This record gives sequence, C-alpha cells and structure tokens, in this order.
Amino acid sequence: GFLYMDYVLRFFDYSNFKGWPNKIEEVTYHWGKDKDRFIEEVKRKKIDVLIGNIPATAYETFREIARALPNVRFVPSLDTQFSNKSKENVTRFAWKYNLPIPKTYIYYHRENADKFLKKTNYPKIVKKSYGPSNYGGYFVHKVDSYKEAKALYASKKYHPMYFQDFIPMEADIRVMLIGHKPVCAFWRRAPKGEWLTNTSQGGSMDYMDVPKNVLELAVRTSKAAKAEYWACDVAYGKDGKVRILECATAFAAFPYIRDWIGQYLMWSLSEGRFRKPHMPMFNWEELGKISPNLLRTMRHITFGKYSASYDGSYFGSQKKSYGEGTVYLHELDESYPIFDVKERTSEEWPSEKWNYQDKFKLKSIKSMKVPALKEQEPPEVSGDESAEELVEESAILNKLD
Ligand SMILES: Nc1ncnc2c1ncn2[C@@H]1O[C@H](COP(=O)(O)OP(=O)(O)O)[C@@H](O)[C@H]1O
Ligand SMILES: [Mg+2]
Repeated sequence: GFLYMDYVLRFFDYSNFKGWPNKIEEVTYHWGKDKDRFIEEVKRKKIDVLIGNIPATAYETFREIARALPNVRFVPSLDTQFSNKSKENVTRFAWKYNLPIPKTYIYYHRENADKFLKKTNYPKIVKKSYGPSNYGGYFVHKVDSYKEAKALYASKKYHPMYFQDFIPMEADIRVMLIGHKPVCAFWRRAPKGEWLTNTSQGGSMDYMDVPKNVLELAVRTSKAAKAEYWACDVAYGKDGKVRILECATAFAAFPYIRDWIGQYLMWSLSEGRFRKPHMPMFNWEELGKISPNLLRTMRHITFGKYSASYDGSYFGSQKKSYGEGTVYLHELDESYPIFDVKERTSEEWPSEKWNYQDKFKLKSIKSMKVPALKEQEPPEVSGDESAEELVEESAILNKLD
C-alpha cells in the first residue's frame, strides 16, 4: 500500500510500480487525531508493506503506528526515516556511525549553551533543528560574534539550540541513491560572494565530475541508514574534505528516479521475479544534458547493460577519470552494486530514548524554561561527541562493509 498524508506532495503513485500484479492500496493519514483510524484501515486492507515518506511533524506518531502494526513492513523503515525528523536526528545518526559532519553543538540546557557561546570562536551557523528538512536555507543563519548569536536566539527562540562551526565550502553536492547505489548527483554552488548553496536562494547546479570521495561518503551514509532510497547533501570543503550536511528519504526527484525506486522495490519485494533496474554510474552526466523541462516528462528510462560482445552499449565503452585514475563506466557499476535492503524487526532509534525534543520541551516560548531539566540531564554535546576526528574523512574505517 501507499502511505499518503493530507496536504503532502505524493512521492509515489501506481505508475511508478508499473506491472505489479497485486492490488496496491492507499491509506491517507489525516492530520490531527487519526492514529487509531489509520491503524484500523491498514489492518482492514490487509497491507503487508506500506511505502512512503513520513514528514517531520508526523514522525513520532508513526513510530507508535509502526509498533501497533508489527507485521507491516514500512518502506523506508521508521529507523531509516529517523533523519527526516530533525537536524538533531541527522547529527545523532552521523555521530553514531562516525560519518563526517561539521562540528555540531546541541543544547537543551539554554544557560549552558549561552556559557559556551561566550567562549567559543566564530563564525558559527545557527539552524532550526526541527521541521521538514530542506526549507531552502530559510532557518539557517551565520553569526559572527557572541553578540549576534545572543540576539539571534533572543529573536528566533529555536529549541534545542543547534549550531555548527562554519565550513568554508566550494559547493555542496546532492547525491541520490537507490539500494546504496548513486543514481543521480549534482553540484550546487552558491551565488558569487554568498555562502548559501540552496538553489531556491539562487544557487546554480551542474552534474559533471562529482568526486569519488563524495560518492563514497553518500554510499556509507545510505548503508548506515539501511535505506532503500536516500538522498544526502555533502559539503565539499575548501579544504577538500567532505562532510554530510543533510540526509533524508524525502527529497525532490524527477519522475524517472521515482520509477527507478519503484522498479528497485518491485525487484526486492518480489525476490527477483521483477528485474533489477540497470542504473549506470554517471548516467546523470548524460541525462543532465537534457533540459529539466523535458526530463520532468520522461518516464521509465532504461539502459542496456554492458556486455563484452555487444559494442552498442554506451555506458560500457566510455572511460571516465575517477579518483586518481581512469576507469570504464561499467567497471564502476561493479564498485557500486545495488544492494537488496532487507526488512528489520528491531528498533534502532526508539522514541523513549531518542525523542529528546518532547522530553526536554520548553514550558512556553515566553518563559523559555525546560521543566524536565530538574529531573534529568539532557544529552549535551560533549568533548568526545564533537571530536575533531569526526571531520577527518580519510582515516575513518567503514564499519558497514
Ligand atoms: N556548517 C556550515 N558551514 C557553512 N555553510 C553551511 C553550513 N551548514 C549549512 N550551510 C549552508 O546553508 C545551506 C542550508 O543548510 P542546510 O543544513 O542544508 O539547511 P536547509 O534545511 O535550510 O537546507 C547549505 O546548503 C549550505 O550552503
Ligand atoms: Mg539543505
């Protein structure tokens, strides 16, 4: 079945699952108190697999819904969608898996944050943690001094207080993956003299020569999230290092990419009765030459696989400079295989532990007090969590391979 939400743009529909032999149901979540009705409808329709993205504001409710439906597989799983909820969650996910990110500070204890902001160095980037990922840089601010930070927090009242070291960067790169294989990637550069790279803020994009270390980091991140499909934004620093800025299962994608996800899921769920889509590495450099208006209308794009005896396979005969050397594109397809992401039954990020946001809520915006602080210590950034080694991309072992 498809998991839909009222007022939320639909990522999938039937046309993405062309040829699926069984009936595909739909269940729509109506905002408000709709949990029990929703659970009943899923049961009544005898749904085994529920496919769809859950927006931030419904995330905790859906963790409860998923518990009430232990025999329903959510795709992507609630654990995979953990990063959809907040920037804090993205950060905690990255900390757990040693994925490089800008050095990040998260404070529920506002006085402690203030003490820290007095003595730290600037610039810092202040962000609103909670809310749908990718508000186009609207809730992201650069502060150059303690005075500016204090003034910003006084007017914006973001909670928790979430901020990062400022990373001077060339550009950031969006990578989309299916079964841990990169299927599309592009650079986003800030307008001249600016630091925000969001395209909605006038940034430009291009598809050429996305570096190896960026693709590798994206794959590690997707594997850590056990994501059937995934997107991440990687900051390409002026120091040449790569760091995750954002990652989520919900992202804007051309319809042909959603077709590929549908085909991938049909292959995975049918245990091979449907064919795995072939999505050659760096296909985006070629498809990116097509005007976006045309690309938006193109559906079910397929490529022939490389075979040694057939010289008509474009992606088999092309060489590309990659990393330190030059490789055939079809060789890269072997380095970046499509993984079959399997169902998991345990919870990796249970809300009892990880929903700090509700546990350490403000009493009111006016008082700016956090009542729960009397009984419990919030998980503050500590020396080891924000450790410098987390930004060193090369030295880290990939635990997931
Ligand atoms: N730590 C940082 N240092 C420098 N620039 C940053 C940093 N974090 C974010 N940015 C810039 O701000 C943009 C928006 O930040 P992001 O975390 O992606 O939030 P949003 O949800 O608004 O897209 C990024 O694309 C990047 O250009
Ligand atoms: Mg962003």
